[in-house]
Amino acid sequence: MARSDCPACNGSGWKIVERNTNGAQALSADKPGASSAGEPNLVWAVPCDCTSGDRSERALAKARVPERYRHCDFENFETDNEIENAGREQLAAWNRSLSQAKLIVQRFAAEFPVGNEQGLLLMGPCGVGKTHLAVAALKEIVLRGHSGLFYDYRELLKQIQDSYNAESQSTEMGVLEPVLKAEILALDDLGSSKPSLWALETVGHILNTRYNEKRVTILTTNYLDTEPSAIPVARVAGMRAPIVDDSLTERVGQRIRSRLYEMCRTVSIEAADYRKEIRNVSRRA
Ligand SMILES: Nc1ncnc2c1ncn2[C@@H]1O[C@H](COP(=O)(O)OP(=O)(O)O)[C@@H](O)[C@H]1O
Ligand SMILES: [Mg+2]
Ligand SMILES: [Zn+2]
Repeated sequence: MARSDCPACNGSGWKIVERNTNGAQALSADKPGASSAGEPNLVWAVPCDCTSGDRSERALAKARVPERYRHCDFENFETDNEIENAGREQLAAWNRSLSQAKLIVQRFAAEFPVGNEQGLLLMGPCGVGKTHLAVAALKEIVLRGHSGLFYDYRELLKQIQDSYNAESQSTEMGVLEPVLKAEILALDDLGSSKPSLWALETVGHILNTRYNEKRVTILTTNYLDTEPSAIPVARVAGMRAPIVDDSLTERVGQRIRSRLYEMCRTVSIEAADYRKEIRNVSRRA
């Protein structure tokens, strides 16, 4: 919606701009004769700048970016975090891991769709910013005009399952088609629901179709490739060990895991849980 007190459009959402004939000719180059030399200035109605915030909001809503993550972008992804009681070297390694992940995801978003035959698989424990980075990329790409979609893994499976229900307003294809067709899909928290045969077949179908049609997918997961016993427990007071006790392969099956190797670049993030542990150095200053 337009701002009701906007001086440029008086709340109508449209503002009038004048262009001289040269400018108008450039704009209507595909319609020869639309304007001829010597014509007076032409008057155009264009969407007022005060509506652009709404347009962005609408684009993000259409892409199903949850309110909780709307604020996530690259600028506010911090890589100079500090944790009480964490050793210097440990902290430096975590911050390096964060900057590296940010760099890769940011470059991916900036270059999309060029040079992005591969998507990204963001792997790491809970709270390290995987969803934040995936949303930052999705937002940037969607706001450039590409079609994109965010889905939480469990929510997607639930919506597909609900669509089988006779009373349901949605159809399976109604849910699936946008997921299969979006230029970019962010699938959040892969493996977070119980790996039933049906769920794995459904997700396998989605990933295979997107892969075969050369559509790019960003996934996040809390499940790692390492055997659970090999995950180092962070030796920081109050730090939790990753709560996952399965590997990603156990959660999604061998077939999907190896398909992901082909269709995504894996980005592992090793850092502390941002919500629980982190104070930001620059914010403290
Ligand atoms: N490095 C960071 N800089 C700023 N905010 C962060 C960072 N890492 C995580 N957050 C914030 O912490 C919360 C949890 O991050 P999230 O991306 O959901 O973690 P994950 O998906 O890895 O579990 C989110 O609100 C996110 O915006
Ligand atoms: Mg997440
Ligand atoms: Zn206005």
